[in-house]
Amino acid sequence: MSQLIPRAVLAMLAVLPILVISHQKKGNEPTLMIVLRVRNKEAYLPYTLSQLSLLDYPKERLSLWVASDHNQDRSAEILLTWLERYGPLYSSVKAAVNTSSPPLRPDERSAVHMSPGRLRAVADMKQEALQTARQLSIDLIWFLDADVVLHDSTVLRQLLNTQKPLVAPMLRSVGKHSNFCEDVTDDFFCVESERFSEIYSRQQRGCFAVPLIRSCVLVDLRDPRTAGLTFSSDRCGTRPERETLDDAVTLALSARDAALQMTVCNQEDFGQVSAPLTPTQEPKDERRNMANMKLKALLDWGPLPVVPLMRLFLPKLPTKSRLGFDRIYVIGLQRRPERWRRHNACFDELGIEAVHVHAVDGRKLTDDMLEKYNISSPRNNERRVRLNKGEIGCFLSHYGVWQDVVDSGLERVLVLENDAHPTAEFPERLQQLVAEADRLRPQWDFIYLFRELPRNDEPVEGAEQLIKPGFCYSAMAYVLSRKGAETLLRDRPLKNMLCVDDYIPLMAGNAPHSRWIGRFPSAGTLRIFASRDHLIHPAKVRGEPGYNSDTTEVDGVVGARSCAAEGNMDSDCYRPNL
Ligand SMILES: *[C@@H]1O[C@H](CO)[C@@H](O)[C@H](O)[C@H]1NC(C)=O
Ligand SMILES: *[C@@H]1O[C@H](CO)[C@@H](O)[C@H](O)[C@H]1NC(C)=O
Repeated sequence: MSQLIPRAVLAMLAVLPILVISHQKKGNEPTLMIVLRVRNKEAYLPYTLSQLSLLDYPKERLSLWVASDHNQDRSAEILLTWLERYGPLYSSVKAAVNTSSPPLRPDERSAVHMSPGRLRAVADMKQEALQTARQLSIDLIWFLDADVVLHDSTVLRQLLNTQKPLVAPMLRSVGKHSNFCEDVTDDFFCVESERFSEIYSRQQRGCFAVPLIRSCVLVDLRDPRTAGLTFSSDRCGTRPERETLDDAVTLALSARDAALQMTVCNQEDFGQVSAPLTPTQEPKDERRNMANMKLKALLDWGPLPVVPLMRLFLPKLPTKSRLGFDRIYVIGLQRRPERWRRHNACFDELGIEAVHVHAVDGRKLTDDMLEKYNISSPRNNERRVRLNKGEIGCFLSHYGVWQDVVDSGLERVLVLENDAHPTAEFPERLQQLVAEADRLRPQWDFIYLFRELPRNDEPVEGAEQLIKPGFCYSAMAYVLSRKGAETLLRDRPLKNMLCVDDYIPLMAGNAPHSRWIGRFPSAGTLRIFASRDHLIHPAKVRGEPGYNSDTTEVDGVVGARSCAAEGNMDSDCYRPNL
């Protein structure tokens, strides 16, 4: 068929789709220049550039201004590869990608050192882009950092809809770092405030006037007041007493002088910005930052999109290991496939090899089954306490793992529920903790990696992370030895079933006043430890959107709420059967 079409027509067809878009669609949308400065951002670029490719905005209304130099990684190569393929779609492209500049500027001590020369170079480049956009009468200019990962392809349209002259989407990052300041000192350093937390956590949603925004800043050049904006600190009237000003501070000062309000918007959860590297870190640490952003994205948005061309530049996934354990169990309900998908993706990212354990589903437990396996909760004064079927399912799931440890002759295992969400640091910190336990308390049976309501912790001498916990809750994440599993099975707990969160402290001797202690002769013999800090966190905490608990929200069964959900700290928190 195609050989029948003359060459000239083919050429026209190749051009046509673009012409059609520009005419029929959105020809009157504002023109916009995207300014992207890149240095040593190999870890982020495949994602950042993919999001530009996928941005919901007509490319022919966009100009690109890309600058990159002094790289120690493949940043320049990635940029040039992307520009070659996608550049022609844009209205215009200015790319200053210097592949021959040395790894450091003359006044830089390291690649993360914000030397005066570096700050000046960045400010000069942004100033030049700003002037060019003004000269070309481009409507808006968007300063975008290469380590900003936007999850929402409509972000630009949403920012335009705010009709603010100087606006940024609120971006989150590890450690509550963000791209705005809610309050600043006289020297323009950020100050933490309550309102910052409210905006950051999105308890308050909308657009907020703030003194400083950075990393992803959209300027509406059609607003005449923006004529006073500058990145160049010599032109800035009211300079605070700081040796060097970064470009964001200069811009904020010039905005203030021009009586122009900066705005940050959080009506959507737009995306993330990487946490800045500390002076002792190196560019390669960006990889871990990016891994954390990917893990966070998996939790809140799903996998980050990467266009095929950029996949060539993604790092290889780590080889999988069991981190020194004989088996890593992940417990979860079969009927929650999204959690398994997320967990698998996280473990692929971290290189962890685990086995899935399908939890006993409380919804499917019948009274006949309970009877058949002789499952019952303890009686007290002839009143039977109540466990809901979700809690029974939860106990049985952990019980099954303990039995498997003993039956398979495993020496040490890691047990996680599949709503535990790791960070990139998890494997390393876990291995350090277990090494510390092996060194200082080699007889350990059980180590909590996450706890709720901890109290009466005692230190372990010479330990950095290991502690001896008092009473606490949670079986979401723990390390277990074979001896520990044997202890947990010894007193046939199915006959006197407690919520697993209560049973573990009881066996460790941390619930001395429990009225059930007499039923468990081995109570107090489980040698229990914990990490001082949480090594892993629940994906969602109670009350957060998207939170659900399969132990507390079991439909249509006994109806008692979980003891943990009631915040009751004693192990006899079960409600008597009325
Ligand atoms: C690249 O950087 C080097 C060193 O900083 C400089 O001498 C050279 O002129 C630059 N090349 C271009 C094309 O700008
Ligand atoms: C349940 O208990 C009864 C009576 O004590 C016993 O005969 C039966 O074998 C037990 N069932 C199981 C599955 O342990």
